[in-house]
Amino acid sequence: MRLLLVVACALIDADGRVLIAQRPEGKELAGLWEFPGGKLDANERPEQALIRELFEELGITVKEPCLAPLTFASHAYEAFHLLMPLFVCRRWEGFVAAQEGQALKWVFPKTLRDYPMPPADAPLIPALIDLLG
Ligand code: C5P
Repeated sequence: MRLLLVVACALIDADGRVLIAQRPEGKELAGLWEFPGGKLDANERPEQALIRELFEELGITVKEPCLAPLTFASHAYEAFHLLMPLFVCRRWEGFVAAQEGQALKWVFPKTLRDYPMPPADAPLIPALIDLLG
Protein backbone atom coordinates (compact mmCIF):
# COMPACT_ATOMS: atom_id res chain seq x y z
CA MET A 1 0.00 0.00 0.00
CA ARG A 2 1.23 3.52 -0.82
CA LEU A 3 2.67 5.44 2.10
CA LEU A 4 1.64 9.09 2.39
CA LEU A 5 3.52 11.40 4.71
CA VAL A 6 1.59 14.37 6.06
CA VAL A 7 2.80 16.60 8.86
CA ALA A 8 0.53 18.28 11.42
CA CYS A 9 0.82 20.76 14.27
CA ALA A 10 -1.05 21.51 17.47
CA LEU A 11 -0.63 25.22 18.02
CA ILE A 12 -1.06 25.89 21.74
CA ASP A 13 -2.21 29.27 23.07
CA ALA A 14 -1.47 30.86 26.46
CA ASP A 15 -4.60 29.23 27.98
CA GLY A 16 -3.59 25.72 26.89
CA ARG A 17 -6.07 25.51 24.03
CA VAL A 18 -5.15 23.98 20.68
CA LEU A 19 -6.11 25.12 17.20
CA ILE A 20 -8.19 22.96 14.91
CA ALA A 21 -9.25 23.72 11.35
CA GLN A 22 -12.26 22.47 9.44
CA ARG A 23 -11.61 20.78 6.11
CA PRO A 24 -13.41 22.84 3.46
CA GLU A 25 -16.15 21.71 1.07
CA GLY A 26 -14.79 20.03 -2.02
CA LYS A 27 -11.86 18.41 -0.22
CA GLU A 28 -11.77 14.82 0.92
CA LEU A 29 -13.16 14.45 4.46
CA ALA A 30 -14.88 17.86 4.14
CA GLY A 31 -16.38 19.18 7.36
CA LEU A 32 -14.07 17.22 9.65
CA TRP A 33 -11.77 19.06 12.06
CA GLU A 34 -8.04 18.48 11.86
CA PHE A 35 -4.74 19.78 13.14
CA PRO A 36 -3.28 22.20 10.58
CA GLY A 37 -0.55 20.90 8.29
CA GLY A 38 -0.20 19.13 4.99
CA LYS A 39 1.86 17.03 2.60
CA LEU A 40 5.59 17.32 2.20
CA ASP A 41 6.87 18.84 -1.02
CA ALA A 42 9.86 17.23 -2.73
CA ASN A 43 13.06 17.50 -0.68
CA GLU A 44 11.33 19.02 2.35
CA ARG A 45 11.93 17.86 5.88
CA PRO A 46 8.79 17.60 8.04
CA GLU A 47 9.63 20.77 9.97
CA GLN A 48 10.16 22.77 6.76
CA ALA A 49 6.88 21.51 5.32
CA LEU A 50 5.05 22.45 8.50
CA ILE A 51 6.54 25.95 8.59
CA ARG A 52 5.44 26.44 4.97
CA GLU A 53 1.95 25.05 5.57
CA LEU A 54 1.39 27.12 8.73
CA PHE A 55 2.28 30.26 6.79
CA GLU A 56 0.09 29.33 3.81
CA GLU A 57 -2.93 28.23 5.88
CA LEU A 58 -2.77 30.52 8.91
CA GLY A 59 -0.47 33.42 7.98
CA ILE A 60 1.92 32.85 10.87
CA THR A 61 5.69 32.53 10.91
CA VAL A 62 7.14 29.70 12.98
CA LYS A 63 10.83 29.21 13.70
CA GLU A 64 12.05 25.64 13.55
CA PRO A 65 13.24 25.40 17.20
CA CYS A 66 9.66 26.22 18.29
CA LEU A 67 8.38 22.95 16.78
CA ALA A 68 8.55 20.01 19.18
CA PRO A 69 7.62 16.49 18.03
CA LEU A 70 4.89 14.94 20.19
CA THR A 71 3.67 11.73 18.56
CA PHE A 72 2.72 10.07 15.26
CA ALA A 73 -0.58 9.19 13.66
CA SER A 74 -0.63 6.03 11.59
CA HIS A 75 -3.80 5.09 9.77
CA ALA A 76 -4.49 2.83 6.81
CA TYR A 77 -7.04 4.54 4.58
CA GLU A 78 -8.38 2.56 1.63
CA ALA A 79 -6.07 4.23 -0.92
CA PHE A 80 -2.96 4.80 1.20
CA HIS A 81 -1.35 4.38 4.57
CA LEU A 82 -1.03 7.77 6.23
CA LEU A 83 1.89 8.45 8.52
CA MET A 84 1.56 11.81 10.22
CA PRO A 85 3.98 13.23 12.80
CA LEU A 86 2.28 15.68 15.16
CA PHE A 87 4.36 18.60 16.41
CA VAL A 88 3.38 21.10 19.08
CA CYS A 89 4.16 24.80 18.89
CA ARG A 90 3.64 27.49 21.54
CA ARG A 91 5.46 30.41 19.90
CA TRP A 92 4.96 32.02 16.53
CA GLU A 93 5.00 35.44 14.92
CA GLY A 94 1.89 37.09 13.52
CA PHE A 95 -1.79 36.51 14.16
CA VAL A 96 -3.55 33.27 13.35
CA ALA A 97 -6.05 33.99 10.56
CA ALA A 98 -7.56 31.55 8.07
CA GLN A 99 -5.92 32.15 4.70
CA GLU A 100 -8.00 29.64 2.76
CA GLY A 101 -11.50 30.35 4.09
CA GLN A 102 -11.38 27.44 6.51
CA ALA A 103 -13.15 27.65 9.89
CA LEU A 104 -10.78 27.70 12.87
CA LYS A 105 -11.40 26.99 16.56
CA TRP A 106 -9.27 27.13 19.70
CA VAL A 107 -10.36 24.29 21.98
CA PHE A 108 -9.23 22.66 25.20
CA PRO A 109 -7.81 19.17 24.55
CA LYS A 110 -10.52 17.57 26.73
CA THR A 111 -13.21 18.94 24.41
CA LEU A 112 -11.53 17.80 21.17
CA ARG A 113 -13.75 14.72 21.07
CA ASP A 114 -16.75 17.00 20.47
CA TYR A 115 -15.36 17.78 17.01
CA PRO A 116 -15.53 15.05 14.36
CA MET A 117 -12.01 14.38 13.10
CA PRO A 118 -10.47 12.23 10.36
CA PRO A 119 -9.72 8.72 11.63
CA ALA A 120 -5.99 9.46 11.56
CA ASP A 121 -6.30 12.54 13.79
CA ALA A 122 -8.62 11.35 16.56
CA PRO A 123 -6.05 8.94 18.13
CA LEU A 124 -3.74 11.93 18.68
CA ILE A 125 -6.06 13.45 21.28
CA PRO A 126 -4.81 11.45 24.33
CA ALA A 127 -1.24 12.67 23.80
CA LEU A 128 -2.49 16.27 23.88
CA ILE A 129 -4.57 15.63 27.00
CA ASP A 130 -1.50 14.08 28.67
CA LEU A 131 0.54 17.13 27.72
CA LEU A 132 -1.97 19.88 28.54
CA GLY A 133 -4.64 18.35 30.75
O1 C5P B 1 -4.85 17.72 3.47
P1 C5P B 1 -4.69 16.79 2.29
O2 C5P B 1 -6.01 16.56 1.58
O3 C5P B 1 -3.58 17.17 1.40
O4 C5P B 1 -4.27 15.39 2.94
C1 C5P B 1 -4.21 14.21 2.18
C2 C5P B 1 -4.99 13.12 2.88
O5 C5P B 1 -4.40 12.85 4.18
C3 C5P B 1 -6.43 13.50 3.21
O6 C5P B 1 -7.28 13.19 2.15
C4 C5P B 1 -6.74 12.64 4.41
O7 C5P B 1 -7.10 11.35 4.01
C5 C5P B 1 -5.40 12.58 5.14
N1 C5P B 1 -5.29 13.54 6.25
C6 C5P B 1 -5.73 13.18 7.52
N2 C5P B 1 -5.59 14.05 8.56
C7 C5P B 1 -5.04 15.28 8.36
C8 C5P B 1 -4.60 15.66 7.07
C9 C5P B 1 -4.73 14.76 6.04
O8 C5P B 1 -6.23 12.08 7.72
N3 C5P B 1 -4.91 16.12 9.40
